[in-house]
Amino acid sequence: MASTSTIPALPVADALYDRALGHLPGGNSRTTLFVAPHPPYATSGRGHVLRDADGREVIDLQNNYTSLIHGHAHPEVTEAAARALHAGASFGLPTEHEIELAELLSQRVAIADRWRFANSGTEAVMVAIRLARAVTGRDAILRFEGCYHGSADAVVQHGARGVPQGVKDDVVTVPVGDEAALVAALDAHGDRLACVVFDAMPNRAGLRPADPAFVTLLRTETARRGILLLWDEVLTFRAGLGGLQGQYGVEPDITTLGKIIGGGLPVGAIGGRAEIMDAFDPRRDDAVGHGGTFSANPVTLAAGTTAMRLLDATAIDRLNALGDALRERLAAQGWTVTGQGSLLRVHVPDATALWWRLWAKGVLISVNGLLCLSTPMDEDTTAAVADAFESLDQE
Ligand SMILES: Cc1ncc(COP(=O)(O)O)c(C=O)c1O
Repeated sequence: MASTSTIPALPVADALYDRALGHLPGGNSRTTLFVAPHPPYATSGRGHVLRDADGREVIDLQNNYTSLIHGHAHPEVTEAAARALHAGASFGLPTEHEIELAELLSQRVAIADRWRFANSGTEAVMVAIRLARAVTGRDAILRFEGCYHGSADAVVQHGARGVPQGVKDDVVTVPVGDEAALVAALDAHGDRLACVVFDAMPNRAGLRPADPAFVTLLRTETARRGILLLWDEVLTFRAGLGGLQGQYGVEPDITTLGKIIGGGLPVGAIGGRAEIMDAFDPRRDDAVGHGGTFSANPVTLAAGTTAMRLLDATAIDRLNALGDALRERLAAQGWTVTGQGSLLRVHVPDATALWWRLWAKGVLISVNGLLCLSTPMDEDTTAAVADAFESLDQE
């Protein structure tokens, strides 16, 4: 934990946390946001600046775990969401908003001419695995060690409490990037594998882009065994117009999106080719069930469509160049930094200490060292971030 001298006084947050402890285990609802002794509380944000309950303003490189690609309260995104909300928060009928976002995503993601919307990346991965199982008639899945794909039973980390043995029996785990282990696992379990769940730049496993040769091998070896490749692009879709899969030039069978495609509101999506995705077609007697009271929520999808329209190729290229320059500058200062484009990860032995030291300098990052940029940022913003890191070195 950070030494208490680096933790600024947080009287309002302390009081809120005391109240929270009486009703929320550990004081909040998201394990992934906890930082000891307890996190500050957010009250508002505008552009790349977040304000906390104690009145501190920080440069936000956390961006709600990378989902706020346009920062906080972007006027056009907010306007789209407000317009949709005024028309009615949700309906027991489909709306045109889901057609609009599906059309936009189909133009960007080469393999996906069909989409289903959900409320989170977790839900998207969970439903995509069910789809793969239904389509292949197989039960098991293969995943890579240490990679995060949300909190569904089948994909939580090895040894997680509360996961039934029956679920664990159907999960094969292989070390990240290990070609020999992958082929051995496919040889041993191939005929019972429905899909391989893959993230080409997994944050929890270090945010290092996969070797293109590994990705090609993965595609070839799964295809020849009739195993579906489920490319989880929930975190990495911001990498390019067609996400990371577009850059690798590999065609998965199913893809999952989330985070940025909801304009800051809860979202997930499953995409793929018609012959796979049409398993969801409710006109079929054997349709794979997928509902959700709030799936394809019109407010989310209106905000998301606007956010995606604003995120054109020019915006992505600018953001990636800013991110690459920041990574180089931090590396030149001696930090170990991985990632690509607008996603960065700083590796330190004590991430909590780094978190508080940066907070004290007016910079917010994720508690696991993940940083991401948003479109309201420019060179002045990243220079201020680099200066904050540099000042830590000198302390
Ligand atoms: C690669 C990946 N998949 C799935 C998820 C789960 O998404 P959500 O937090 O929206 O449930 C995440 C979340 O960070 C993720 O990074």
